[in-house]
Amino acid sequence: MGFLLEKCTLFPLNNEILSQCQSFSCGDSDLDDFFLNNVENFDFQLLGKSFCYRLDHNPSVIVCAFTLANSSIDGRNLPNNRKKKLVENIPYEKRLSSYPAMLIGRLGVNRDYGNRGIGSELIRFIRTVALAGDNWSACRYLTVDAYNNENTRKYYEANGFLYLFSSEKQEKEYISMPEDKELKTRLMYFDLIQLSR
Ligand SMILES: CC(C)(COP(=O)(O)OP(=O)(O)OC[C@H]1O[C@@H](n2cnc3c(N)ncnc32)[C@H](O)[C@@H]1OP(=O)(O)O)[C@@H](O)C(=O)NCCC(=O)NCCS
Repeated sequence: MGFLLEKCTLFPLNNEILSQCQSFSCGDSDLDDFFLNNVENFDFQLLGKSFCYRLDHNPSVIVCAFTLANSSIDGRNLPNNRKKKLVENIPYEKRLSSYPAMLIGRLGVNRDYGNRGIGSELIRFIRTVALAGDNWSACRYLTVDAYNNENTRKYYEANGFLYLFSSEKQEKEYISMPEDKELKTRLMYFDLIQLSR
């Protein structure tokens, strides 16, 4: 049970739905701009599918929005200790060079509905989507390029996501970014096997 399940309905997010709704703000202007102006084009280009939950008693309110896409985690170039961590629950004989994943490309909760567990409920929903029995394609991990600010990092940490790299320094090395440049996102993942067993 939760707010989304009890009081909202899930819709694909497209221009028709947006035209029926008040403008959505999660507090991050890039994300707001994406949800308001780019979802259809992104979907058309097969780069990500966007969805939203709208309030049942006032469907003009979008409570949260998110975008999903197929993805993968490539273990080949990871530092050894990180590769070990990533595959610790995968039997040796089943290990691959890269693992199927679902990317949370964008995700935001309406500012008026923040800090009441809706973001966490949304993650629980996305996990069930990734594990749905009728999916034609397998998915081992959820991945996200989490905004590198305290709120967003805590949110994903609280929902069981781990850092792919142990430190910003290590992540910068991996993406060949100079050490003095700001790392805007952190790669995080959630191993779905803990739920499917
Ligand atoms: C990050 C975001 C999705 C959280 O949604 P939410 O509905 O407020 O999250 P929840 O209420 O489920 O909170 C879950 C956990 O996240 C953390 N958290 C959420 N908001 C926080 C805040 N303002 N400060 C610190 N921690 C916070 C807490 O650990 C919280 O656990 P708790 O309830 O046990 O304290 C929402 O604030 C948002 O849309 N932010 C802007 C966009 C963004 O950063 N999106 C992620 C892009 S990668």
